[in-house]
Amino acid sequence: MPARVDAVDVAAAFHDPKRANILYHDYEASTYDAKWSISFDDRCTRYARDRFIAAAGERVAAYPRAVEVGAGTGFFLLNLARAGIVERGVLTDISPGMVAQALHHATELGLAVTGLVGDAEAIPLADASADLVVGHAVLHHLPDVETGLREVLRVLRPGGRFVFAGEPSRIGDRYARRLGRITWAVTTRVTRWPALAPRWARPLEELDASSRAAALEAVVDVHTFDPDRLARAALRAGAVDVRASTEELTAALVGWPVRTFEAAVNPERLGWGWATAAYRTWQRLMVLDAALARVVPAAWYYNVALTGLRPE
Ligand SMILES: C[S@@+](CC[C@H](N)C(=O)[O-])C[C@H]1O[C@@H](n2cnc3c(N)ncnc32)[C@H](O)[C@@H]1O
Repeated sequence: MPARVDAVDVAAAFHDPKRANILYHDYEASTYDAKWSISFDDRCTRYARDRFIAAAGERVAAYPRAVEVGAGTGFFLLNLARAGIVERGVLTDISPGMVAQALHHATELGLAVTGLVGDAEAIPLADASADLVVGHAVLHHLPDVETGLREVLRVLRPGGRFVFAGEPSRIGDRYARRLGRITWAVTTRVTRWPALAPRWARPLEELDASSRAAALEAVVDVHTFDPDRLARAALRAGAVDVRASTEELTAALVGWPVRTFEAAVNPERLGWGWATAAYRTWQRLMVLDAALARVVPAAWYYNVALTGLRPE
């Protein structure tokens, strides 16, 4: 069961993004994998590896010591370990609930990974202790992104690489949110119809708790990114060989309503068959999006990725 999120907690967290992040993500920890169709199998391992390669360019040899910031339930680092890109790793996150969940997965997978609760703006690790730092969908939660990137460079050894993926672009976030809101409103209304309610409606208390948690989204989602500006922030933080790239246009236009629909209906109605079909559709749209990149501006795409090196 998710941790309770009551109105008092939400009110208190409203002016404090870090407190809101702990509350929101502790609440999400036990249901996060189902919400985002996260698994540690070939589907997600290929997804993580492809995002890494799309961001970093040529795949380098396996990294002996990797760190993830804002690791959540371990989606990125654990799947990169399964893909052979990471040999040993440390999962860090500001939410204790997320770290516990990630370590549970690491143990089940038998991977050489440890976990630490910690803020990405003050990573609880020694200088130059990592060959690779990764993050997925985390930079947009940091009040001070440049401080976070400076911390990344501090824990990297000279010549070490960082790879961030899955960050929302400024334009992409606008259409994704709008589509998500419409899908949520339509789905929660339609699934209340008497003919559908017994099988499709999610219990009201779950929707209420989910809406309260969703109210925090406005606080936890601090930034959206313009790819070029994000690259400049990394350069100011002291990185070299910096590159920002984008992915997902039609894949996001379809993907966000699909994800919102999944969160709004009784989860028992959708199984892995649904998840697999949704993933295949997404894969086809990604091929289309790659072709469209010749004519569509990069900033219109939804996902922003960032890579760079600590100077030698
Ligand atoms: C959108 S989730 C992504 C989780 C995971 N990386 C994934 O892609 O599934 C963002 C994660 O960042 C964490 N987070 C937010 N602010 C943070 C901070 N200041 N320091 C470290 N982690 C943070 C949250 O607790 C949450 O687990």
